[in-house]
Amino acid sequence: MTTYEDLEDTTHTDCLVIPILENDTIEAQIPSYCDGIKKTVDSLVVTKDFEGKPLQQTVLYGAHSQHKRILLIGLGKEEDITTETWKQTVGASIRTAQEKKSSTIAMHIPSHIITRFGDSIAAKETVIAAHTATYSFDTHKEEGAQTTRVETIYLYKNNTTDETVWQRGIDTGIHIAESVNLARHLGNTPPSDMTPASLAQEAQKLGEVFPSLLVKVLEKSEIEKLGMGCLLGVSQGSVLEPKFIIMEYLQGNKEDTPMVFVGKGITFDSGGLSLKPDPYIRDMKFDMLGAATVLGIMRAAAALGLKQNIIGLVPTCENMPSGSSYRPDDILRAMNGKTVLIQNTDAEGRLILADALSYASKYTPKHVIDFATLTGACVVALGNERSGIFTKDDTMSSNLQAAAEKSGEKLWRLPLGKEYTEAVKCEVADVKNIGGVGGARYAGASTAAAFLEYFTDYPWTHIDLSCSSYGEKGKPWIRGGANGFGVQTIITYLQTLE
Ligand code: BES
Ligand code: ZN
Ligand code: ZN
Repeated sequence: MTTYEDLEDTTHTDCLVIPILENDTIEAQIPSYCDGIKKTVDSLVVTKDFEGKPLQQTVLYGAHSQHKRILLIGLGKEEDITTETWKQTVGASIRTAQEKKSSTIAMHIPSHIITRFGDSIAAKETVIAAHTATYSFDTHKEEGAQTTRVETIYLYKNNTTDETVWQRGIDTGIHIAESVNLARHLGNTPPSDMTPASLAQEAQKLGEVFPSLLVKVLEKSEIEKLGMGCLLGVSQGSVLEPKFIIMEYLQGNKEDTPMVFVGKGITFDSGGLSLKPDPYIRDMKFDMLGAATVLGIMRAAAALGLKQNIIGLVPTCENMPSGSSYRPDDILRAMNGKTVLIQNTDAEGRLILADALSYASKYTPKHVIDFATLTGACVVALGNERSGIFTKDDTMSSNLQAAAEKSGEKLWRLPLGKEYTEAVKCEVADVKNIGGVGGARYAGASTAAAFLEYFTDYPWTHIDLSCSSYGEKGKPWIRGGANGFGVQTIITYLQTLE
């Protein structure tokens, strides 16, 4: 694991990163411990090869006796800097240094960044950006082709006011980023390895590492006893048995009702008998990213020692076509007694969530938030940068959107409403698993959310993270694959309650 240390006068590294604002004072922004490179920088200014534009990068070789490379990275204009742009700058520079085989990296943190964000946030966000940038999923590649491991990142800062606050910021950042990277790793692992049983095992491992986290896994027989007919129905086409993961973190006051997080854990979504055609079947290993987010949240809560009562629930199974699969026209009964007519076996996420949301009732929760890669319709509506948030609780909606903004994640509110609730009503059962708006073609994200609402009897929010929780290509500051969407937003939100 990458460690973080102070940059000392005597430190030698493979690469020193210097962020530079876009203005006329590029030479003046070169720190005094790098005086020797001012002349080289002069020529960059004259040729306009480097102007400090956002994420613009130039590498200098042989310019400093202690640092093998110097990477100048543009920060853009000072007035446009936000936590998000700062994190992108840090992440992009760390990725570049790492791709140039640097295993020790020094990061110069300009004093205006510390003045702008304060010690705690500057330290925390810098570490989160660096730590998530170094993560790569390459365990299946041959040794020489793997990404260079970053051993140490040395941070330079000259105007911190409080060392303890700074260090606490770093520790918090590591806990959050490790949890984000855990969620990414669970998601990136191929579906043959990340099965319902392995996901359950990962949760149990967390329980061993963090004694404050009580983890229980319900097996098929217990799922049957509880009457979770929808989870059983979806799982019956797979040779793999379903699991129901319960994670309890009770570190708040005894009398405080808990926050409950629920995550969709379909370890592979083939669509079932309503089989997905290529290319839509690709990437369906990511259909457990809601579950990964919940494991990430629970890990971070325990690592940070939050003083709250928090529950994580994950229904997990595989959605496969076979002679034993559930079929269109079947009627399933959820744990809360409601019956569901199956019209499309590819609308399976809402079914396993129906049972998990019913189960959540037993905690008389303060609020339940579910995370699910639930609908392609949400991707059509919002693209790949924002996830959809559905709730009738205006305060929760704006609090979560604010927390997302602070964390560099994006949420956009989409509607719940009577027309969607009506659209999933059914003649032969209580509800059906696809909405009837525009012959089931319209408002798919909202009819899915409205379906879930039938299984809630407490304050509730649904986050459809089909849109922004994974990407093929990645960004300059984060590699492709799963990105851990939601972990940081929720931790930021929970920390505001402390
Ligand atoms: N897992 C998918 C949703 C999805 C699609 C996530 C694309 C990420 C990217 C979900 O189970 C699904 O297949 N939903 C169907 C619902 C439809 C049959 C009503 C969909 O969105 O097409
Ligand atoms: Zn599906
Ligand atoms: Zn799915």
